[in-house]
Amino acid sequence: MKRSMGILQFGYENVIKPYLFRKDAEDAHDFTFKLLKTISENSWMQKMMSTIISAPTNKILEQQLFGMTFAHPVGLAAGLDKNAVAVPVWASLGFGFLEVGTVTPVGQAGNDKPRLFRLPMDQALINRMGFNNAGSEAMLGRLQAFGKSSIPLAVNIGKNKSTPNEQALEDYMKCMSVLYDVADFFVVNISSPNTPNLRELQKSDELDQLLSGLCNHRKVLASTRGASVKPMLVKLAPDMTPEDLEVSIYTMRRHPVDGVIATNTTLSRDGLQDRHRGEMGGLSGKPLTMKSTEVIRSIYRMSEGKFPIIGVGGIFTADDAYAKIKAGASLVELYSGLIYHGPTLASSISHELIQKLQQDGFEHISQAIGVEG
Ligand SMILES: Cc1cc2nc3c(=O)[nH]c(=O)nc-3n(C[C@H](O)[C@H](O)[C@H](O)COP(=O)(O)O)c2cc1C
Repeated sequence: MKRSMGILQFGYENVIKPYLFRKDAEDAHDFTFKLLKTISENSWMQKMMSTIISAPTNKILEQQLFGMTFAHPVGLAAGLDKNAVAVPVWASLGFGFLEVGTVTPVGQAGNDKPRLFRLPMDQALINRMGFNNAGSEAMLGRLQAFGKSSIPLAVNIGKNKSTPNEQALEDYMKCMSVLYDVADFFVVNISSPNTPNLRELQKSDELDQLLSGLCNHRKVLASTRGASVKPMLVKLAPDMTPEDLEVSIYTMRRHPVDGVIATNTTLSRDGLQDRHRGEMGGLSGKPLTMKSTEVIRSIYRMSEGKFPIIGVGGIFTADDAYAKIKAGASLVELYSGLIYHGPTLASSISHELIQKLQQDGFEHISQAIGVEG
């Protein structure tokens, strides 16, 4: 690790994190975002950040996926930058790509507060945010103002709480129409546990209808706007039975879907110690590490390694990321690990991945993907 990055890491662990962890979790999030927004409006500060936290540029990590170049495989998971307010900052923090959203067609307040809880004893978070976001038009304005992102940018799309599942397709289509020109790729979120019945859309018939509608819509948008057919991935929950997972993957593969993101947060509360363990919502962080890795391994096997997977869930170290890559993930993403380990995490994991690949005798990351699948 670079000396400047080490100093920042030390500062986070010993000064910033204790300060933030004394605040209510959502207040700490809002406070941090005010700072990130300021940095996103100041190119000098972004340059300073990227000098302190440099992302690796080693060809061993670079991949061409979905028609795009990913300089390294560590990205930002959905839900942190829900409204795309800090887009340029993530590249300066050394991320290889990012997901903004989940965005819904119309802005909505989300669930009542408190709705975000830290579980330090378990290195975890529980959230029941409920897609609080400013809506697709507001996101469009911000993404247009920022201009093209220097790293691949995915827009994660969802449905409004008030929209019944029978009309969900229209909500996803609206988000895609509004944001088609500014997204590099889309993620269809059907796995948040905090929008009632959303996970029902993972079932065979519902998924089939949703994906036929969305794949058609994408084709129409591409031809009417003279644009390329933008890649579309589907994000799944970690709580499906192996049989249901197989049906979902089989259904997705009948459509021109480009890949899968595994996984969203879990409803499981196995083995938790923290006083907040009884809170309702989705659990993320350390308790999800193994579970999401096993889902990735199952998807890799079910699809015979032919369906690109973005792995997410409880990545706190380079070993966690490497385990997901070896289970079958082409790329990985983080959220909770950032809260516990701070802003240098994406960069330090990607630098360490280079060493791990070299130690194992791989010349390129693609040779490691799925070796333990
Ligand atoms: C507070 C919070 C909000 C989230 N919001 C979203 C969201 O809006 N859309 C989504 O697809 N995933 C959302 N997620 C799930 C994350 O993207 C990720 O899949 C999950 O947290 C597991 O990764 P982690 O253990 O690294 O946090 C959210 C997670 C957290 C902790």
